[in-house]
Amino acid sequence: METKLLTTSEKDINTAGGIIADGGLVAFPTETVYGLGASAFDIGAAKKIYAAKGRPSDNPLIVHIADKLQLSDIAAEIPNEAKIVIDKFMPGPITVILKKKPSVPDTVTAGLQTVAIRFPSNETAQRLIKAAGVPIAAPSANLSGKPSPTTAAHVIADMTGRIDAIIDGGACDVGVESTIVDFTGDKPEILRPGGVTYDDLKAVGLDIIINKNILKSIGANEVPKSPGMKYKHYAPNAEVTVVEGEKDAVQKKIKELLKGVDGKTAGVLAMYGAEYDDAVILTAGESNREYAKNLFSALREFDNLGVEIVFAEFCEKDGYGLAVKNRLYKAAAQRVIHV
Ligand code: TXA
Ligand code: MG
Repeated sequence: METKLLTTSEKDINTAGGIIADGGLVAFPTETVYGLGASAFDIGAAKKIYAAKGRPSDNPLIVHIADKLQLSDIAAEIPNEAKIVIDKFMPGPITVILKKKPSVPDTVTAGLQTVAIRFPSNETAQRLIKAAGVPIAAPSANLSGKPSPTTAAHVIADMTGRIDAIIDGGACDVGVESTIVDFTGDKPEILRPGGVTYDDLKAVGLDIIINKNILKSIGANEVPKSPGMKYKHYAPNAEVTVVEGEKDAVQKKIKELLKGVDGKTAGVLAMYGAEYDDAVILTAGESNREYAKNLFSALREFDNLGVEIVFAEFCEKDGYGLAVKNRLYKAAAQRVIHV
């Protein structure tokens, strides 16, 4: 299949909207990461998403809207606490899990009776959803298991020949996927941390809990609340180890570790300016906000540079810390050294 490369011009957005309305697949920018979109009410199109990504069919998609009026086409009911979140944080980097209307296909929700809904703030994403005339079901636009794409170049690398079109809208602002909050249980629960933080949600009066699996691997016999939790995620080819703690201790430890890499090409994902011998150094940035924006891009870059072993400096500093930690620990397959 030929994959068209589109811009954000009105003509191209209309072309892209037409492709989605006709049952095709278009990758598009959002403020979090690039999404791989299809009409949310077209079963055949949703199936194509799973095929293009190599995604397991039991891992549901997020339905993207560009107008709060579309909520009533998708959600069977909206509890009061969800209304508060929709009111305060949408459009923005957050996804709500609600009971679904029967009209939402099982292929989109992977057979669940609940549906994930997100209203992105990215203008290109909004224009595309409007041009398509339907809500857009979209996972992140990476091959399953790879880091989520935060530039069109990442999508081009993973999806060329597999989808109809890619809209180049530049680099994503947040850099990690949306915060997912489940409103179908006893209390609202964060299933995935992201750009709307725990503190943001507490500040609007929510009695909210954080799912216990966010910072660990799922056991073989556990059923996670969010199917995506159990899959290996964000994994570069390189073996990643997180070294977590205060600056001096972290840098001392990484210098030691670099001495033991045994001829392998080594890399460091750095928060601070640092001198490391014999290592490819990529910058994550000192704040966790910057770290989130740079993380996936850096993981892909290490692979492109042939780096085999990566040490990531990390220290939790702000509300984005939990979102970064969740992705970083997964990329490191839970290899974390606390110093
Ligand atoms: O920022 C984002 O959310 C990006 C952009 C493109 O919007 N999308 C994204 O989609 O990250 P994806 O498919 O990579 O991650 C969606 C996650 C998966 O872990 C999935 O299991 C979970 O959402 N999910 C979807 N529907 C769900 C449901 N009904 N109940 C629980 N978890 C659900
Ligand atoms: Mg994903």
